[in-house]
Amino acid sequence: MEFPTFTVLPRHVAVIMDGNGRWAKQRGLPRTAGHVEGAKTFRRIGEYAGDLGVKHITFYAFSTENWSRPETEVSAIMRLFGEYLEEARERLQESIQKGIRLRFLGDKARIDPALVAMMDFMEDATKDGQKVNLNIAVNYGGQQELLHAVRSLAKDVLDGSLSPDAIGAGDLESRLYTAGQPPVDLMIRPSGEQRLSNFLLWQSAYAEFWYSDVLWPDFTEEHFNEALRAYEKRNRRFGGV
Ligand code: IPE
Ligand code: IPE
Ligand code: MG
Repeated sequence: MEFPTFTVLPRHVAVIMDGNGRWAKQRGLPRTAGHVEGAKTFRRIGEYAGDLGVKHITFYAFSTENWSRPETEVSAIMRLFGEYLEEARERLQESIQKGIRLRFLGDKARIDPALVAMMDFMEDATKDGQKVNLNIAVNYGGQQELLHAVRSLAKDVLDGSLSPDAIGAGDLESRLYTAGQPPVDLMIRPSGEQRLSNFLLWQSAYAEFWYSDVLWPDFTEEHFNEALRAYEKRNRRFGGV
């Protein structure tokens, strides 16, 4: 495949994979059928982003708020996640060769321990990957992530290893799930919604947003290119002139 070139590539792209349910509804299918298709899109776009040279890409797979969905839907999503983990384990050597580092953002405590074991295994097995950081947010909430970081800071203040006045942005960032990774440059949300839905609140402080009505299962490499083209033209000022 011929890859397009871009004058400037975002260092970190975040994707809110939304619209699976509506995609299924349009076809008279159960919502879970949309998640099956969405999982395929995730594999395709994740691979494509890496091939283009995007160094950090984060996919929002399951939010802390998504537990409020019917149990059947939640377990279908978790089953698909488990299938992805199995496949990732089978393709481990290929990922290592490509320099992919897989990381999971979110609170693992509420996730099935069998899945957590696979998540931990994959994170450890790919930890030396230097080319592509592939982050998957599962049981992730931006506010919860910040609370978690703040509690950790408070503990250090309490035991005297940190002075409240000395707390800087770096101290907080090092306690986020994205520790060591750059902030989000480009935030992509398909499905017509224009909100953050508790995703990467701190990390998106200066992100450029790209929205589209396309539903996630219909999202193609061409849509990804379109988002990158839009990003190329943005004038990022960071509060300056
Ligand atoms: C995104 O698609 C997948 C998850 C949130 C897990 P949705 O399931 O939210 O699809 P819509 O928004 O109902 O169409
Ligand atoms: C955001 O989508 C979460 C994920 C894509 C995992 P939602 O469908 O849950 O968001 P809302 O409810 O429309 O804000
Ligand atoms: Mg949705």
